[in-house]
Amino acid sequence: MSKIAVVGCGYVGGVSAACFAELGHSVDCIDVSAERIAIYQTGKSPIYEPGLDELLTKGLDTGRLRFMDSYPDMLDADIVFVSVNTPGSQEGAADLRAVRDAITSIAPRLRPGSIIVNKSTVPIGTGDLVQGMAERAGQKHISVVSNPEFLREGSAVGDFMKPDRIVLGSNDPEAIERVASLYAPLNAEVLRVDIRTAEMIKYASNAFLATKISFINEMASICEALGADVTDVALGMGMDARIGRQFLSAGLGWGGSCFPKDVRALAHMAAVHGTHPQLLRSVIEINNGQRLRAISKVREALGGLEGKCVLILGAAFKANTDDTRNSPAIELANLLSLEGAAVRIADPVVSPTQVAIAAPDAEFVADVMNGAVGVDAVVLATDWAEYLNLDFGALARRMNAPVMVDSRNALAPSVMRSVGFAYFCIGRPAHEGDREPVAEWDVALAGGGAS
Ligand code: NAD
Ligand code: UGA
Repeated sequence: MSKIAVVGCGYVGGVSAACFAELGHSVDCIDVSAERIAIYQTGKSPIYEPGLDELLTKGLDTGRLRFMDSYPDMLDADIVFVSVNTPGSQEGAADLRAVRDAITSIAPRLRPGSIIVNKSTVPIGTGDLVQGMAERAGQKHISVVSNPEFLREGSAVGDFMKPDRIVLGSNDPEAIERVASLYAPLNAEVLRVDIRTAEMIKYASNAFLATKISFINEMASICEALGADVTDVALGMGMDARIGRQFLSAGLGWGGSCFPKDVRALAHMAAVHGTHPQLLRSVIEINNGQRLRAISKVREALGGLEGKCVLILGAAFKANTDDTRNSPAIELANLLSLEGAAVRIADPVVSPTQVAIAAPDAEFVADVMNGAVGVDAVVLATDWAEYLNLDFGALARRMNAPVMVDSRNALAPSVMRSVGFAYFCIGRPAHEGDREPVAEWDVALAGGGAS
């Protein structure tokens, strides 16, 4: 089994390190955040990710996982994964400062023959940049491999362990095989390509998924105008194997730490290199519009927002994560506050401190039922299972005049109406024709693998 290092232990690095240890490898984990490392050293994850704590505890117990908040003088791993953050900059380009810092720290410590593996999502050409940095640090015999990661937050451990594919790109075929051998126990399909193509596959995949979502959101607007039901349209479309049902849930639009920055970064790269990314620009525009459509629904339902009290269910960008980066729920909270509404927000795992930073004018409520007292409208913004199974009758009774804006199309209109809600949703009839929630068949048809 191999000795590897993982540099940057967040949603991707923490999960990858724990999973590599589970596969039998010995893994040194390095992060500049002493706070995160201290939590990992106790066998706990600093991020909410189902199944991760168990793997961390096991990895520490077996001695296969070691966490450190500074770079050891000599890295004794000969394959080093870089999974640091690559956020979007103001103009849309990926900000590579953390990658550069990591390479600056790693390069002088490597032995000849070592491999640097880029797992972060990085602009096309970053592999060459990393190779150049290593050479300038005196490392002439280092290989660079691109190994983009496709895991989803909330199902990251399962996605890592059961990937649809592993993409490896390098100009050094032997380095590709050494990295491929780390994944051998997974028996996954491995695609071997050149390094720029591997980097591009990652952006193209995220951009395509985001496009699917924007497509169905545009269909939702058309359905609303024409009296069709977008949830059934998605079902009918998805039954065609060429289309597939996944990523056709209309709602608030895509958020999170990756789609927003990656679609913008791809459009930015395209524009800088003289192409006209008109589809990507429309995909972004449609997505921004979804938040505003949801706000319009609340405004119309309440006859204005000034002085009204709105309870938002969910702060995370989707269910099963504590990540609020580019969360549509947080954007809704801030937009509603700007329009003069008093906003309350609940989430089963996001901390009150996180909400206070992301939505400073909103009040965090620990208990949904208490938080609903005197509220004019509830907005379901994150489809956490606990919010789909609330006692909606009791919820309605606590509110002023019960209004529910189901911006995830996750509730049954018939149930909502039967307990007295004025019910609004996205792209499907809210007031006639009972529908059952779509969440179940979403899960059933998703099949568990990463998309
Ligand atoms: P994150 O912010 O959760 O974690 C990044 C970690 O890197 C942080 O803990 C930070 O302290 C650490 N770091 C920064 N600079 C460092 C340095 N010089 N040395 C050591 N550690 C350093 O980010 P993330 O969500 O895990 O994403 C990491 C990368 O993976 C990004 O490029 C992202 O686009 C990509 N990605 C993310 C996901 C996801 O679901 N979050 C999925 C696939 C790919
Ligand atoms: C996404 C991709 O699915 C991963 O393959 C990829 O590795 C990752 O980005 C990344 O590069 O970081 P993630 O951001 O964890 O994963 O979440 P998704 O499940 O893809 O959801 C993204 C956003 O789209 C969420 O806001 C979600 O609510 C929204 N969404 C998703 C929809 O609005 N409709 C859908 O049908 C599906």
